Amino acid sequence: MTIDLARARRDTPGASEVLHFNNAGAALMPAPVLEAQLRHLQQEAAMGGYEAADAAADRHEAVYDSVARLLNGEREEIALVENATVAWDMAFYSIPFRPGDRILTARAEYASNYIAFLQVARRTGAIIEVVPSDDSGALDVGALETMIDGRVRLIAITHVPTNGGLVNPAAEIGRIACRHGILYLLDACQSVGQMPIDVAAIGCDMLSATGRKYLRGPRGCGFLYVRRGVLERLEPPFLDLQAATWVAPDRYELRPDARRFENWESNVAAQLGLGAAVDYALGWGLAAIEARVVALAESLRERLRTIRGVTVTDIGRQRCGIVTFTVADRDPADIVAALHQRKMNTVTSSPRSTLLDATARRLPTVVRASVHYYNSEDEVARFAAAVAKLA
Ligand SMILES: Cc1ncc(COP(=O)(O)O)c(C=O)c1O
Repeated sequence: MTIDLARARRDTPGASEVLHFNNAGAALMPAPVLEAQLRHLQQEAAMGGYEAADAAADRHEAVYDSVARLLNGEREEIALVENATVAWDMAFYSIPFRPGDRILTARAEYASNYIAFLQVARRTGAIIEVVPSDDSGALDVGALETMIDGRVRLIAITHVPTNGGLVNPAAEIGRIACRHGILYLLDACQSVGQMPIDVAAIGCDMLSATGRKYLRGPRGCGFLYVRRGVLERLEPPFLDLQAATWVAPDRYELRPDARRFENWESNVAAQLGLGAAVDYALGWGLAAIEARVVALAESLRERLRTIRGVTVTDIGRQRCGIVTFTVADRDPADIVAALHQRKMNTVTSSPRSTLLDATARRLPTVVRASVHYYNSEDEVARFAAAVAKLA
């Protein structure tokens, strides 16, 4: 299936207002996502928050089915949480590390994840090791294989880093993790919603994602997938009466499913919006979305490369919708601000969010322009023309 661009833009109220190339930040929500939330907020105002949640209970339960379908997992393997960081942290901090345990990660790892590695390493004596990148800049799968031994407790990688178009070889990594029986945590925050993600094909044990980015859902929602066979082995770092039941004065019992990683109070409107976003993405088909996103991003890179003074900084053999660049002698923040004045949305990406990669590649702060399937070829051309005027 190909994307019906006219319909995609009609469904997107913001598409006629701005040129939005900040889909890796927070994408424009389509109308069904907005409506699902507004309807619930109106219900909350009219009848009360708990009563509105009761009335929406079936639709809320269906969100778990939608996310499970999106990932090719099961509903019992899904937890709905506040954002991707909470999802990732709940999984990571559940792992009982011992002194000498090795954590293998990639060069483009996200700052929040790496900070958690450092904290846990300091507390437990676990060791963090970075798998080298191959010539294309992706995690070197051959190097990973040679680093495996009995002390590797966890492979934790970011599928698509925050600072560029690279797609790490998640499924090849998964095959190594499976073969050696090593826990595998995938940060899919930037990849979910822009490409098919199949947890069975990838072979990850845990996967974290957010609602607001390529999925086009609301802010303040995210989810965690935890494989059934792994679930029982992981006790979350925080428990409440949603995650566990207080069965005797001196005893609690954990929920058997992934909701042991949740807590009770949640933004029901946002979670209903998340469900609508997942259904909407599935309606287009993730393969169709990916094909269009990749083509638009490549055409943007090609146009940017022809502009004197512009350097495209994306790496990797397989690339996605995130396009990053610098403009010689121009502060990236000024470029973003100048584009914003022309109603063109981008952001900067600082070396601090991917310190190892930025240091290895001597990357300064870059401009990040992230395209989605509802963006048009005309927008790509107008954007490149605007950058050319600023260069
Ligand atoms: C690769 C990656 N992982 C995790 C996160 C954190 O996501 P959230 O802000 O939803 O917690 C981000 C946010 O930009 C990200 O780019």
